[in-house]
Amino acid sequence: MKAIKNDLFLKALRGETVERPPVWMMRQAGRYLPEFMEIKEKYDFFTRCQTPELASEITVQPIRRYGMDAAILFSDILVIPQAMNIDVEMKPNFGPWVPEPIRSAKDLERVIVPDINDTLGYVMDAIDMTKEKLNDEVPLIGFAGSPWTILCYCVQGQGSKNFDKAKQFCFTQPEAAHELLQKITDTTILYLKEKVKHGVNAVQVFDSWGGMLSPTDYQEFSWKYIQQIIDALKDETPVIAFGKGCWFALDVMAKSGASALGVDWTCSPRNARYLTGGNITLQGNFDPTRLFSPPSEIKKMVKQMIDEFGKDRYIVNLGHGILPNIPLENAGAFIEAVKEYKAD
Ligand code: CP3
Repeated sequence: MKAIKNDLFLKALRGETVERPPVWMMRQAGRYLPEFMEIKEKYDFFTRCQTPELASEITVQPIRRYGMDAAILFSDILVIPQAMNIDVEMKPNFGPWVPEPIRSAKDLERVIVPDINDTLGYVMDAIDMTKEKLNDEVPLIGFAGSPWTILCYCVQGQGSKNFDKAKQFCFTQPEAAHELLQKITDTTILYLKEKVKHGVNAVQVFDSWGGMLSPTDYQEFSWKYIQQIIDALKDETPVIAFGKGCWFALDVMAKSGASALGVDWTCSPRNARYLTGGNITLQGNFDPTRLFSPPSEIKKMVKQMIDEFGKDRYIVNLGHGILPNIPLENAGAFIEAVKEYKAD
């Protein structure tokens, strides 16, 4: 693999000293960008994911506009259940929709651990094309959902405030739940390994709904499977584990072999450092809604956030995905503040 010209992000993942921390934004390829909206008007969601020309173009859009220190492949965590023979649609103004959700051991019979190149070859083509467009300027991040977060959609059938049906499935049919979680885990490991073969420079596991579980249930239904993914990938590529609302598990996560841990805005930098023992790279944790503040205020808050986390072993990011109606100038102020950073 060729050397990446801007390797700030990779240095931070290795825990090396840097001039300033690297920055990228979760969901940085998204609806706040007019150039994204232009493509969105012409093609539906999964067409954008499945067409390498479109997916690679959308991936590089935010890099061209703002010059983040890493790109993240445009795709979705829900391509995994699709490959496993669970239909998933993206309904406009509604979000993910699973017409036939998994609710029993019987429903599980049709769920497969697929051949990755047969089912998700288009993602690998998108990676190849994106790597060409990026021309080794910045690293490319590959990603997957955590098995628990994928189960949430497969069982609930749609987004939810509390994922009650997904939790009910786990608590009343634990054997079936673990079978589904294991199938998702096995698929995800094969998928991420294939992405690494195609040149992604790091992978992030999104556990967006981990915070729905109690600390005890989190270990049993979510973390156990993320740990399997880390074990399988960590010798091949740096792994970032992001659990939204999962500050309570940071101590265990810090001992997992992950290269970095994502933190959301409900955990202070100081507490995140304390819980993780101070040695692991952390990523986050600006409240995405704070990007509505005036640019001058955003810049002050970013500077303060870096001072609190410390410039080393730190990747500047939001605490969750960027919102669709954030002004372009405000997103720009967030990135600029990091590039202008100087320790006092
Ligand atoms: O970060 C990036 O820029 C890469 C692209 C990316 C998308 N989804 C594109 C997308 C990533 C990393 C994801 C991950 C993802 N998808 C997660 C985990 C991260 C998180 O935000 O919690 C989850 C839970 C999903 C499932 C999903 N996909 C939902 C709930 C939705 C609907 C949200 C909405 O606001 O409508 C999606 C659709 C989706 N995925 C969009 C984008 C840009 C918006 C819809 C569109 O473009 O038509």
